Amino acid sequence: METISHDLIILGSGLAGLRAALEAARVSKGELDIAIISKTQLVRPHSVCAEGGTGAVMRPEEGDSTELHAWDTIKGSDFLADQDAVQLFVETIPREIVQLEHWGIPWTRRDDGRIEQRPFGGHSFPRAVFAADKTGFFEVHTLYDTLQQYPGLTRYDECMVTALLVENGQYQGLTAIDLPRGRFLAFRSKALIIASGGACRIYGFTTYSNSVTGDGMATAYRAGLPLKDMEFVQFHPTGLVPSGILITEAARGEGGYLVNKNGERFMQNYAPKMMELAPRDIVSRSEALEIEAGRGFKGPQDVDCIHLDLRHLGAERIKERLPLIREVGIKFLGLDPIEHPLPVRPAAHYSMGGIHVDTMGRTPVENVWAAGEAACVSLHGANRLGTNSTAECLVWGGITGRRAAEYALEQEHLPPFNQAAAREEENRVLHQILNKNGSENFYAIRQELREVMDSKVGVFRTGEGLREALAKIKELQERFHYAGIKDRSRIYNTDLVSYLELENMLTLAEIIALGALQREESRGGHARRDFPARDDNNWLKHTLAYYTPQGPRLEYIPVNITMWQPVERKY
Ligand code: FUM
Repeated sequence: METISHDLIILGSGLAGLRAALEAARVSKGELDIAIISKTQLVRPHSVCAEGGTGAVMRPEEGDSTELHAWDTIKGSDFLADQDAVQLFVETIPREIVQLEHWGIPWTRRDDGRIEQRPFGGHSFPRAVFAADKTGFFEVHTLYDTLQQYPGLTRYDECMVTALLVENGQYQGLTAIDLPRGRFLAFRSKALIIASGGACRIYGFTTYSNSVTGDGMATAYRAGLPLKDMEFVQFHPTGLVPSGILITEAARGEGGYLVNKNGERFMQNYAPKMMELAPRDIVSRSEALEIEAGRGFKGPQDVDCIHLDLRHLGAERIKERLPLIREVGIKFLGLDPIEHPLPVRPAAHYSMGGIHVDTMGRTPVENVWAAGEAACVSLHGANRLGTNSTAECLVWGGITGRRAAEYALEQEHLPPFNQAAAREEENRVLHQILNKNGSENFYAIRQELREVMDSKVGVFRTGEGLREALAKIKELQERFHYAGIKDRSRIYNTDLVSYLELENMLTLAEIIALGALQREESRGGHARRDFPARDDNNWLKHTLAYYTPQGPRLEYIPVNITMWQPVERKY
């Protein structure tokens, strides 16, 4: 096993990871040896799939304000957001937009040359800064291009983390498999930033790339870092049927309608003021209720759905503002949204929960930071507003990059390293798992996990359904012990990757289901049919899940309320 040392390691090459790398490189002025470890190729993170925009206050002169952005975010979060984090966020993100502009991103512009903004759900002002409907793609590539100005940054592409090594409250390093070369590697560093994204591939019907399996969250959790608010999963109202590919909310921001089979814009019955641009938890529940009431359509492969109708926008606007959506409709379904409505339904889209961090992105382990979707800084609370996630990646990528770099600059030496622990992990992965025989097929287990998450831990939940889900997850965890691996090769072993991913997903699924079962209220994306009301007396608090060998131990901590007391959400 090769052991490699760097001053600072960034795990993940999405928006948060790249932004963190850039900030760290700028702060260190060449003095730090920085590495990015990424499961995908560096420019293929899931962030490139972000479509609609990045939320920021750019037009105070036209009536928007950071206070309004903060209020929208906190109300959207169903008052579970930590308000100090929200305040920091709304004040920082406008500078990030301008910074990206200076780094050369092709923001879509108004005729007068100024940056254009469009409406998005739950925002009371057109706040989404965008680059057509490929915002994440352009953001990732702009950061990547800019990083080229900083030599001395080492890349480990297609390298999957297997464990974090933490002892006595201090991070020492991590282990990973270099997939193309089949090498098992140990890494040491003075500091670590985890920016490895969310976990929603646990679900079957999802907007996520296949790679998004919560590896960073699960390895952090097993190393003793608590995960926060994992029961809050966002369902995006417009996952294309039957694939789940994201049809951006910008389609509704540009004026698209959601219609049921009676031709009604049904959102008038659920959110008469904001209609299709109500927050996602509300729109997704409304769609589910319409389908349940028999007012949906039968879509491709007989999947129940509703229709997203863009035809009235006209060909020119669709081609200019939503070219990706049009391409996806044509390529995946043979439907051109200029002429046909698109079949859509709620799809798992975002993990509101993640690794517990404070407003500076610090985890409880002194030399570990986390940013982006892997982290839970409590910006989104129980329901994230669209455009606030790419924005979060930029803000806390920047903050953690700076903080971790400053920390690493102050350290003379690497932390001590328990080589035996790294060897044990190598043995577990390369010998115990890679040589494992077993009667169970773990791809079947993965499929069953996704089915139970879709059916019992989805848009609506019940105590009974969640208990069934937990029992099923435990059964799958048990069967997983008897799952064997067929491919024994070292080089790019996708069987091994899938096995390790499933191990992570089974770990996280249990935390999500348990947190959801314990939380006997409805709040944001967590809608309990048996507890339909929000219960601030008992549940205005964050869930923390700690690893124990017997399963997650849950604790609760208060929400940080600095500006607004909870009130009823009306849209
Ligand atoms: O619909 C979208 O374009 C997604 C945006 C987001 O999740 O922030």
